Amino acid sequence: MAKTQTHHDGYQRFKPSQRFEHIIVILTFTVLALTGIPQKFSSHDWAKSMIDFLGGIESVRIVHRIMATLLVAESIYHGGILSYKIYVLGQRLTMIPGIKDARDVWDYIRYNLGWSKEHPHMPRYNFGEKAEYLAMVWGTLIMVLTGFMLWNPIGTAAILPGAWIPAAKAAHGAEAVLAVLSIITWHMYNVHVKMLNKSMFTGKLTHGQMKEEHGAELAEIEAGRTWPLPPPEVIQKRRRVFLPYAVVMSIILVAGLIYFVSFEESAISTVPRLSAAGETIDVHPDIGDPVIGAQLWTATGCDACHGARGEGTEGLANFSIAGTSLSFEAFATSVRRGPAEMPAYGKQQLSDEDLAHLWVWLTTKE
Ligand code: HEC
Repeated sequence: MAKTQTHHDGYQRFKPSQRFEHIIVILTFTVLALTGIPQKFSSHDWAKSMIDFLGGIESVRIVHRIMATLLVAESIYHGGILSYKIYVLGQRLTMIPGIKDARDVWDYIRYNLGWSKEHPHMPRYNFGEKAEYLAMVWGTLIMVLTGFMLWNPIGTAAILPGAWIPAAKAAHGAEAVLAVLSIITWHMYNVHVKMLNKSMFTGKLTHGQMKEEHGAELAEIEAGRTWPLPPPEVIQKRRRVFLPYAVVMSIILVAGLIYFVSFEESAISTVPRLSAAGETIDVHPDIGDPVIGAQLWTATGCDACHGARGEGTEGLANFSIAGTSLSFEAFATSVRRGPAEMPAYGKQQLSDEDLAHLWVWLTTKE
């Protein structure tokens, strides 16, 4: 079949805006993997050296979060463009798998095994590309949700059971490994090994590549059956409906993103460590009231780590402090300083009187 005049320099596949999105995805994916995978395997020597090489755990975490934010912003943009194409331009959903794809898989297997001479004629996005795109959508969703839970463990524990946090951590790490491996195998093989497909950078495919990978689309193009755009006045009308929605949705989503990024609630960074000057305690423990102490114990969240009655939990504080023999001074200093993983409680969180109430309640527990 002779190539038509307009296609002598290849077939337009991706617009510059789509290629730009792809570059953002390459950037965020690569940096997220490089900063994330060593965090998952942080007990291994290679991971430790990698974290050191990247400037230490603090900078690795910050870079990881910046890239995550960029990826979410890109996803919001992608969703907007997609809605525009579907609603305003009335375009086909070229990424949704159908019966034809199942048939293509089968024909492809037969072709590769030499059972058939006929290579399947595949559509604009063939089954492999659809699978990869949908895996990316699903994977991003999982990573964003679980990543946010890990970013804000205390905020999450206020809404969901605590066990969701280690579950999110497991899912985040496992999905990361899956994504990296599938890019290295599936994506690399299909676009770099099987044939060098440069269309994401040049925007174009050659006639031969179109025939091999998108035979059905090529036939449509050559028969002049391209998907028609609606008439301009219809586009105009739909645009007038679409744009206000798009603006409102974008504002909500971007505001949500900013809120998420700036929302940081974890025991380690929100509770300020006390300076030595703030540690003097000028109250006599005799004023302590065990009933108020019991209320403060749960209201302040000591029970989250130490158990409802100070008996300890499976987690950080797996020891009992019920009936503690600590002196009031030693107790108060501990709470004000926050030993090890325990947050420090300043006077804004617990007054000196509160400490007395807590101590009296704790020391009188069994
Ligand atoms: C995030 C979990 C967590 C929270 C919340 C927490 N603690 Fe602790 N607490 C710990 C851990 C862990 C230790 C042990 C630190 C160490 O290894 O030195 C500890 C130690 C202590 C000690 C010292 C025990 C000793 O024998 O030296 C006291 C007293 C104490 N906590 C009281 C409280 C009180 C009162 C509250 C609430 C105002 C509270 N903790 C909230 C985790 C927590």
